[in-house]
Formats: sequence, structure tokens, C-alpha cells
Amino acid sequence: MAMPDSAPPPVLTLDGPSGSGKGTIGQLLAGRLGWHFLDSGALYRAVGYLARRHGIDAGDAETVADLAARTDIRFAPQHGALAGVIANGEQIGPEIRTEESGEWASRVAALPAVRRALLQKQRDFRQSPGLVADGRDMGTTVFPGAVLKIFLTASPAMRAQRRYKQLKEKGFDVNLARLVGEIEERDARDAAREASPLMPADDACVLDTSNMSIAEVVHHVLALLHERLGQQA
Ligand code: DC
Repeated sequence: MAMPDSAPPPVLTLDGPSGSGKGTIGQLLAGRLGWHFLDSGALYRAVGYLARRHGIDAGDAETVADLAARTDIRFAPQHGALAGVIANGEQIGPEIRTEESGEWASRVAALPAVRRALLQKQRDFRQSPGLVADGRDMGTTVFPGAVLKIFLTASPAMRAQRRYKQLKEKGFDVNLARLVGEIEERDARDAAREASPLMPADDACVLDTSNMSIAEVVHHVLALLHERLGQQA
């Protein structure tokens, strides 16, 4: 798996709708590989959260993009699937993980100027020895040269169940029926927007995880990755 010194660190992209398992699987993969992990949704969530807190309209592209450009967003070294972020030195807790924050994230993420403001910040996570990048447009826009692109899907019912369990475990008050509606609405907006919509890259491997365990998905993706890296060596 040794890469020549001049080659940029390899990237594995994991895209897909909410609840498809990207976050959990991405973190496990990064742990197994000893690679960095980019939870790009958390960047959009942090921007949406801060916009809301500052009373900025989610449709005000210029002001939200300016906020995104000015905000330094970092992850704690060991961040779990529902952890917060550190924005300009301020710890923002797990409240960025609620469906309401997801809704705000999805709205600000539809603004091309906001996506432009976050593009280089995301690319900066590509560091040695490698990066696992989780999001909606990792394979199509942010890392088009990724060594392996995975697009995870699962049935809407299964995705809602997973989100429900995750949020409940964190003590959030959630209603399953409402969650299904919110997830469907958010995915429809993410897929319909013009700027980097949620869709598989032409060269992505599409994996339906509805009937797969987390361990099976991790195993399958690692096998694909080792095959690709072997071909490159
Ligand atoms: O992955 P997530 O649920 O934390 O993402 C929250 C929202 O952020 C999602 O509904 C759409 C947006 N997003 C995006 O547009 N592009 C990404 N690469 C990641 C997230």
C-alpha cells in the first residue's frame, strides 16, 4: 500500500442519503486504515447552526457564504457519529445533529456560494496517509480523483429507523413517523438542487446496505479498496 512520495494521499469517498450508514461506516473504515476522516455534513450543519443562531436567513447566500468562509471548523480528535464540532474555537455540542439542524444544513448547502466557501476547507483534510470522506458530493465534486468511490443507499424505512435509534440513544426526543417525513424532504432537496446534488459519481460503486450488517459493509469496502490500491502500486 506504499505510495510514492509525490502522490497525493489516497481518498476513499462515501456518499449517500441520510441514514445510509456513511458516518458509522466511514469512521470504522478510517479507524481500520489509520486514515483521517472528514464528516463533511458536520461542516454544513455547523454553518446552518451558526446562521440560525445569528438570525441570518438561510436563503441569504452572500451572508451565509461569508459566515462559512470566516468560520474555522475542526473536529475533536475522537469524534463519534453524533459529536459536535469546534467552530472558531467554540465547542458546538451534539445539537448540530438534530433533524432541525439537518434541515438548516440542507438549506444552506443548496447555496452554490456556500459550497464554494467550504470546498477548499474540505480538500484540506486530504492528508497523509489517506482520507475517508463522507458526504453527498465527495466523489462528484470535492474529490473527483478518489481512488475508490462508494455510494451507499438503503430503503427510506431502514434509514429512518437507523436515524431514530441514533438520536434516541443520544437522548433526543424523536418521533419515527415525523422523522420519515423530514428525511424524505431533506433527501429530495439534496437531490434536486443544482449545485452538487446528491447523486453517485459515474465511477462510483453503488451499495444497498438495507440487508447488510455494518461489519459486512466495512469488509466489502475494504476488499474493494485493497484491490484498487493494489492495481495502483
Ligand atoms: O450527512 P448529514 O446528514 O450530516 O448532512 C447534513 C446536510 O448537509 C445534508 O442534508 C445535505 C448537506 N450536505 C451536503 O450538501 N453536502 C455534503 N457533502 C454533506 C452534507
